[in-house]
Amino acid sequence: MNTDLIHTELDGRVLRLRLNRFDKKNALTVDMYRGLNAAFARASEDPAVRVLLVEGNETCFCAGNDLGDFLNNPADSMDAPVFQFLGHLAEFKKPLVAAINGAAVGIGTTITLHCDLVFAGDNTRFQMPFVNLGLIPEAGSSFLLPLTCGHVRAAELLMLGEGFDAATAKELGLVNRVCAAAETIPTALATAQRLAEQPPESIRLTKALMKQAHKGRVEQTILDEAAAFMERLKSAEAKEAFTAFFEKRKADFSRF
Ligand code: COA
Repeated sequence: MNTDLIHTELDGRVLRLRLNRFDKKNALTVDMYRGLNAAFARASEDPAVRVLLVEGNETCFCAGNDLGDFLNNPADSMDAPVFQFLGHLAEFKKPLVAAINGAAVGIGTTITLHCDLVFAGDNTRFQMPFVNLGLIPEAGSSFLLPLTCGHVRAAELLMLGEGFDAATAKELGLVNRVCAAAETIPTALATAQRLAEQPPESIRLTKALMKQAHKGRVEQTILDEAAAFMERLKSAEAKEAFTAFFEKRKADFSRF
């Protein structure tokens, strides 16, 4: 399947999924979530696919959800494509690999919590600015991030919402390896190909066993976050933050 904005290509037994909206830093629209859902469904069902690799290009991975959609086309039920996508991330049974360079904001960072292997370029800038936008964390990150790096470091990242580099992400346990930006995608692809040569049932069972202890908790957290997230999208704090972004000014929360 190839839409304009979500490009998929089978490379051996690795399905390469490229986010392809570089003029908007790969900010994800509702239609892009639909494309992602179709790609994940294909990757799940097609026995020719052993590994799914998610990538952008050398300069950009993903600037998170499209802020215009947050403002004008917000998710209002669990059937929304964005929540279906989070379900795919949490439930995907084959190895999921990410190659990340440049901007990795919001879901561009929290996706790493659902990946099996993550490669990040030395030009990567991760950020989870949910609170800065008047929102709350998503994709199970309010549970998975403290689990990965401890409460105080997760609180710093989620409450201050500041950016951090690939070396910090590696130290936090979000990234396997930091690469020169030009090497991130080739390194991730070569490693994904090695994974694809492993016995697939053994790989799938290993992933299921590794995830089993927290599966129910992750699914419940995603639901709880989604309910709060939909409320926050309608909040005056969030509207101020989204408007400020497009007006290229700092948000002013002093009146709340
Ligand atoms: N939603 C909608 N449009 C976005 C976007 C987003 N999340 N992120 C970037 N864009 C758009 C910009 O509006 C700009 O469009 P324009 O050329 O029509 O003005 C274009 O993409 C390039 O972005 P720009 O901000 O000029 O690039 P930059 O390199 O200076 O900064 C980012 C890159 C990612 C740091 C910055 O764009 C950013 O902070 N984006 C918002 C990230 C965010 O809050 N995401 C939501 C997380 S929940």
